[in-house]
Amino acid sequence: MPKRVYIINGSPRKNYNTAQLLHAFADGAREADKEVEVTETNLYDLHFTGCRECYACKLRGGKNYGHCGYPDEITELLHNVAHADVVAFGSPIYFSEITAQLRGFLERLWYPFVQFKRGEPQIIAPKRVRTAFLITMNVGETAMRRSGYDALLQPVLQWTEYVFGYKPQVQFCYDTLQYRDYNRYWADAWNVEGKKIRHEHQFPLDLHTARQLGHSMTTS
Ligand SMILES: Cc1cc2nc3c(=O)[nH]c(=O)nc-3n(C[C@H](O)[C@H](O)[C@H](O)COP(=O)(O)O)c2cc1C
Repeated sequence: MPKRVYIINGSPRKNYNTAQLLHAFADGAREADKEVEVTETNLYDLHFTGCRECYACKLRGGKNYGHCGYPDEITELLHNVAHADVVAFGSPIYFSEITAQLRGFLERLWYPFVQFKRGEPQIIAPKRVRTAFLITMNVGETAMRRSGYDALLQPVLQWTEYVFGYKPQVQFCYDTLQYRDYNRYWADAWNVEGKKIRHEHQFPLDLHTARQLGHSMTTS
């Protein structure tokens, strides 16, 4: 059976920083294993919400016990991601955290696999899944640490590890180019020239790191 890699883009933009890192990750996975099945999904193309507390996943004798059966456009994707070998989640930072779409997706992904039956294991995910989080942001590394984005990401990483059994890999990509043409927008509070230079020199290295990550996670 070929390995299955799922790429989940939590940015609304399909060709910018986060998406490009995720494509590089996908390329690395394909390089590592010619047979691998890679599925790339843009969450913003799908109509869904976070967990609605229907509790069908906790219902005694319910057909959706241990699954998210809420009928919307991610039901099948949730199932596939939980049965994948590798999953890469990507998100820009919005107000210090991952986007609401990715957060909503993760709520739906994690919650059905956490059960509260006395005397039984708390985690009932179908398998262990290797995961990665590729996170892009406008600020540089020093500002990111000062603002604590890495600390705010910890619960997301911890729940993912708890549910899927492996410590997630994390790649931060700093000081991204927000616009192709900065002249069209009010953004001169930023060091625009510095950003352009960084995009030219550092972003290709970030893509390379993402590619290597996709490669190594698919081979391990
Ligand atoms: C609504 C919104 C909120 C943002 N908040 C932050 C933030 O808190 N910190 C930061 O560094 N960048 C912030 N950004 C910038 C994005 O994280 C950054 O441009 C990112 O690389 C965009 O990813 P993309 O190119 O894949 O869409 C924000 C952007 C938007 C649109």
